Amino acid sequence: AKIGLFGVPFSKGQQRDGTEKGPGALRKGGLLKTLTSIGHDVLDYGDLPLDFSDDKEGQTGVAKNPKTVGHASKMIADKVSEVVKSGRTCLALGGDHSMAIGTIYGQHQVQPDQVVLWIDAHADINTPLTSGSGNMHGMPLSFLVKELDPYLPKIPGFEFVKPCLTAKDIAYIGLRDVDPGERYIIEKLGITAFSMQEVDKYGINEVMTRALKAIDPEGKRPIHLSFDVDSLDPSLAPSTGTPVLGGLSLREGLYIAEEVADTGRLSVIDVAEVNPSLGSEQDVETTVRNTIEFITKCFGNRRQGAYPPGYHIP
Ligand code: ARG
Ligand code: MN
Ligand code: MN
Ligand code: MN
Repeated sequence: AKIGLFGVPFSKGQQRDGTEKGPGALRKGGLLKTLTSIGHDVLDYGDLPLDFSDDKEGQTGVAKNPKTVGHASKMIADKVSEVVKSGRTCLALGGDHSMAIGTIYGQHQVQPDQVVLWIDAHADINTPLTSGSGNMHGMPLSFLVKELDPYLPKIPGFEFVKPCLTAKDIAYIGLRDVDPGERYIIEKLGITAFSMQEVDKYGINEVMTRALKAIDPEGKRPIHLSFDVDSLDPSLAPSTGTPVLGGLSLREGLYIAEEVADTGRLSVIDVAEVNPSLGSEQDVETTVRNTIEFITKCFGNRRQGAYPPGYHIP
């Protein structure tokens, strides 16, 4: 496939330094070489020149560093629009998960019929008012969902964002740390959500079938895959800021990626919350290796055997 990749060296959507080094760690781990070696045409747009200082005015309201995050979101959105417009599948290397405001909004400018598959231990749909932490990586979906618009306070830096998703356009897989306010929103809006309990109950095959069916019964719409590495079990992705025990196995993760690839409609991928400053050198290596493994599966590198080099993967 034709891939357009860029880095989002950003960490101001949460409190721990290090996610700004995520793109560098994935590059150093051989991501580009790996994608090229399995036959893809990879165009690297480099890393966005993001500002990651704290908001100059200090912390005021209910969301931390809103101007810095808002400014980054605008740059991320413009880049995703550019890449998608060029006809390449967009791979955005984060960066904390606040990046998804920009990636989803940017895709929306070109593909307004997008649907979102959100793979995460967390629901990331706190509004600035329901959030207990004020960390914007726990809020991205609340800025994008139309039904929540009346409940969203005006946050400086986000004047440009108009909600572009309805609750029906989203499905979660992997949830296991959902705040009460988020659970309320999910139920109230009827968002499709498969926690780890449902993964255990139905199996990943059934969960994937149901998730894709729920957001796009006709199988026609472009897919946004938002992958938070903390969806994987902490033993597989230890270098991340908010690990939660009891996550997806590597095989469940790879299955998700393979099934999304099989739709032929994967358009934008976020890779969020890789934090090379956390854990040992071995932990970082493990996290990067498994993340790259997931990414290759998103691009058609199936466990049953990849296509020969040069074969055009539609
Ligand atoms: N729900 C918690 C919060 O709002 C944790 C969010 C973690 N998000 C993430 N992208 N890792 O702060
Ligand atoms: Mn839309
Ligand atoms: Mn998470
Ligand atoms: Mn997340």
